[in-house]
Amino acid sequence: MNILGISGSLRHGSYNTALLHAAGALMPDGANLEVFPISGFPEYNDDVRAAGLPVPVAAFREAVRAADGLLFVTPEYNRSIPGMLKNAIDWISRPPEQPFNNKPVAIMGASRGKLGTIMANHHLRQILVYLNAQMVNGAEVLVGEAALKFDAEGKLTDEATARFIAEHLLRLKDLILRTRG
Ligand code: FNR
Repeated sequence: MNILGISGSLRHGSYNTALLHAAGALMPDGANLEVFPISGFPEYNDDVRAAGLPVPVAAFREAVRAADGLLFVTPEYNRSIPGMLKNAIDWISRPPEQPFNNKPVAIMGASRGKLGTIMANHHLRQILVYLNAQMVNGAEVLVGEAALKFDAEGKLTDEATARFIAEHLLRLKDLILRTRG
């Protein structure tokens, strides 16, 4: 079972990318995480899309299409998702055969603040529901006060958070199995 991991932060030392790597180490049996960095995408232009997807965008589209499931880990920027993440999703969202259709997806997020990305989580959920992705619903992995939960090397040190992440990944695995029928 191949899970494609997508971080919504380009920042070196990003808590969200650190959270994504922590999730990679907590994958359930039979599942593995491949991280796809969504850096270097041009801004969306429908004329360019119609002429042919730029190389990194085409690679992203193919990676999403081929994955059994997706794990988005995103910061919250001004109570929504970062523009570059929306831009990456927009690029590969046009029909025919847009790759989010029926794709099992889980979302997590980390923030220095106490509220821990709840608005970004729900905005991303709204976008992906529109694209007919199958979402892990219910419990949300919102890692607030991230500076207290990762060490200086970006290693997750909070055991309760690790347990919660592992449970969320099990929910994603279960959703993938159910979506396969
Ligand atoms: C933020 N941050 C932030 N945090 C939050 O909880 N809610 C928010 O609405 C915002 N808004 C926001 C806007 C912009 C432009 C920036 C740069 C930052 C703070 C943010 O959560 C914090 O910088 C995280 O550390 C960013 O995630 P990474 O880069 O560490 O993964």
